[in-house]
Amino acid sequence: MHAQKPTPELFGWEFAADPYPAYAWLRQHSPVHRTTLPSGVEAWLVTRYADARQALADQRLSKNPGHHSEQAHGKGKVGIPGERSANLMTHLLNIDPPDHTRLRRLVSKAFTPRRVAEFEPRVQELTDGLIDAFASRGAADLIHEFAFPLPIYAICDMLGVPAEDQDDFREWAGLMIRHGGGPRGGVGRSVKKIRGYLQDLIHRKRDNLGDDLISGLIRASDHGEHLSENEAAAMAFIILFAGFETTINLIGNGTLALLRDPGQRGRLQDALATGGAEADALLDTAVEELLRYDGPVELATWRFATEPLTLGGQRVGTGEPVLVVLASANRDPEKFDRPDVLDLDRRENQHLGYGHGIHYCLGAPLARLEGKVALSTLLRRLPDLELAVEEDQLRWRGGLIMRGLRQLPVRFTAV
Ligand code: HEM
Repeated sequence: MHAQKPTPELFGWEFAADPYPAYAWLRQHSPVHRTTLPSGVEAWLVTRYADARQALADQRLSKNPGHHSEQAHGKGKVGIPGERSANLMTHLLNIDPPDHTRLRRLVSKAFTPRRVAEFEPRVQELTDGLIDAFASRGAADLIHEFAFPLPIYAICDMLGVPAEDQDDFREWAGLMIRHGGGPRGGVGRSVKKIRGYLQDLIHRKRDNLGDDLISGLIRASDHGEHLSENEAAAMAFIILFAGFETTINLIGNGTLALLRDPGQRGRLQDALATGGAEADALLDTAVEELLRYDGPVELATWRFATEPLTLGGQRVGTGEPVLVVLASANRDPEKFDRPDVLDLDRRENQHLGYGHGIHYCLGAPLARLEGKVALSTLLRRLPDLELAVEEDQLRWRGGLIMRGLRQLPVRFTAV
């Protein structure tokens, strides 16, 4: 008999730097895998593409943490840190139909590709402004100086947070991600601050409605659309929460993947220098490929079985948490040709980086816009951009759901 290779270690530092070999092992040997998370909670990891897609659309898996069998002891361990104590639980990623259908309909207008396209000049202006601030230095940390502030300002504009308050937001959001994998106190405090601010802003805007998203939510609640003020605050919060760390990681992981692959990077850079429809088409497939290859969301958010069910041949009991590993599904050789190769021209690319089913990313059009503008502007304006540290010095943030770098130090010819 062959000795079975031991299960690879999950969730350590080495795993954080490159989780893909461990996921390949799980897909082969234990595709729906029971594990104990660093928080102590037990959960099922779903690692194959076909099972992942099925689980994401399975209505027997609830998003409501009230269905968690361990909830009584594991208080606060599932979901977004701080949301419970700040009374922000009633948001899209924690609810099921019919409430989910009602709330999602209210905001979906703001995120259509057409509405989002109107936002492009502003995203370009923000992008250029951030690059202007470090371009003459010849060096930067692309996470702190670029990838982090860009989505914060973009989302603040979209929500209707006045310009003079946006730096406060930047500070609270910074605290949220800096403490992401660490002590909860820091996160709890910043989530409470954001909650207090949003509540106050909703009151202030009531007398002075504009065409921003928060004004739209207030109008909806005033016109009998059954949106409570608490739901409006939770909605604004989840848009901020879902839209900022993800976009940071798209820009961070995407830039790193390009810097590590001179051939692919050169192909994109040449196309951008020539411009035209071909460059636009390549930029479109490139951003999708970067999302597949090393996407911002490693695991989809929590789901809980509302009845006993079978997933990939494995029995899952009532109340047990299921985590769909998007990063693994997106490298499944059963679905993708040469899955570990970055191929910016890849056309067959039904990746799950934005999820699937009714919780499919609401902000995908905005994320694509930000990703395209940020990456193309960086490569055009700083053509000799390179890593300023050895690759093994790069450190990844330790959260469970997201996959992203702490810093991305680069250098380039000052301009
Ligand atoms: C949901 C990925 C950017 C707002 C999701 C989900 C994924 C995802 C995987 C589904 C999670 C699940 O089913 O458990 C991403 C990625 C992004 C990105 C990879 C960036 C590249 C954004 C942006 C916004 C946003 C910019 C808004 C400004 C949302 C919201 C949901 C969501 C509100 C919940 C939708 C629902 O439950 O109906 N996103 N996201 N996302 N995303 Fe994004």
